[in-house]
Amino acid sequence: MASQFFVKSDVTFGVDAVKELPKMLEEYKAKNVMIVYDNGVKMAGIAEKVIEEVKKANVDITIFDGVIPNPTNEVVEEAAEIAKKANTDVFVAVGGGSSIDLTKAVNILMTNPGKIGEYGGMNLVKENVLPLIAIPTTAGTSSEITNVVALTDTQAVCKYVIIDNKIVADKVIADPEFTKTMPPSVTAATGMDAITHAVESYISNMATPLTKYHSIRGLQIFYENLPKAVENGSDMKAREQMMLGCIVAGFGFSNANLGLVHGIAHTLSAHFHLAHGVANATVLPYVMEFNAESCPEEMVELAKAINLSLTGNIEEDKYVLSKELLNMTKKVGIKTLSELGIKEDDFDMIAEDVLKEPVLGFNPRQNITKEEVIGILKKAL
Ligand SMILES: NC(=O)c1ccc[n+]([C@@H]2O[C@H](COP(=O)([O-])OP(=O)(O)OC[C@H]3O[C@@H](n4cnc5c(N)ncnc54)[C@H](O)[C@@H]3O)[C@@H](O)[C@H]2O)c1
Ligand SMILES: [Fe+2]
Repeated sequence: MASQFFVKSDVTFGVDAVKELPKMLEEYKAKNVMIVYDNGVKMAGIAEKVIEEVKKANVDITIFDGVIPNPTNEVVEEAAEIAKKANTDVFVAVGGGSSIDLTKAVNILMTNPGKIGEYGGMNLVKENVLPLIAIPTTAGTSSEITNVVALTDTQAVCKYVIIDNKIVADKVIADPEFTKTMPPSVTAATGMDAITHAVESYISNMATPLTKYHSIRGLQIFYENLPKAVENGSDMKAREQMMLGCIVAGFGFSNANLGLVHGIAHTLSAHFHLAHGVANATVLPYVMEFNAESCPEEMVELAKAINLSLTGNIEEDKYVLSKELLNMTKKVGIKTLSELGIKEDDFDMIAEDVLKEPVLGFNPRQNITKEEVIGILKKAL
């Protein structure tokens, strides 16, 4: 059966790639550029470097530096209001997934009516959006190349996604130097998000040979380089590989989608404000142990791809990957749910919300029950 694989990215990769920014803005004939980032990106001195380059293009500049982690509908609406008043014609998003997602969402509202929440779901964006240049500073979400935005609905207390090929950033400036200032905890969290994308998309029921090719390569790159980047943030080889891996794996997961780990992570972040990557990492090993019943061959393929030792008995080998993922989370310093302040009393409520997550539709193991989700959460406690 034929399958579709969509890619639309124009990536300028490498140290000092940001120097290309003035030329890009001139090509767009930009007049009013909005630069979007958060406080961490500002403190790291990265925003300043980007602003300096934008200034060379002789454009009016509007700054929105109010991005928050797991951005909310309210912050999107606030930034969109400012962008409309400023007649923004090109966006420059600098930061992790939160800054890039927020900018992609604001961009939707520049050419499409209504509130951002109306676009939750797949392919609901009607009009094309404005040029957006994404400058990632984490190596995790792949938001710089995906067709996805993840936002928090504070009223419904959930995270939801907008998926649409129209919202992919027009250009990407990926400079591994910009990820060097991430502290080990952020490197670990964002890197575990990347590992989750690679694994979940590989076993997704939407996976195709082309998506699997990207997902498995992504996993190999992350598995080798994440511990190095966490241990020594100045290891530029590892930083470069992590950033490349996100582009590779991102092409896979934007076409194959994700699964139960992200369903649980979105619920945990909506209720307890956990960083996205941390939320994923707490449950990733246990969800993979659970999923192994439905896709043992794929679990073995992933384990083989990262050279884990196998016995040849699939009943044992199907758990080798999940065990190694647990080692990995410990090695990079991910806390358990109880260490993050989440209690067993919360599990019933969490599990009920997890079952409402549309992303469960792509998970290889289906007909998931509340008790099964609670079982996974108990292991992650
Ligand atoms: N669009 C997608 O395809 C996609 C995929 C996965 C996740 N997401 C979403 O992305 C968001 C998470 O993004 P994230 O994990 O990149 O984290 P983030 O953007 O929230 O950043 C995490 C923290 O790190 C800081 N930071 C970022 N870069 C830094 C640097 N170079 N030096 C120092 N500090 C730095 C930020 O200021 C922030 O405090 C979540 O909302 C998640 O749901 C989106
Ligand atoms: Fe993610």
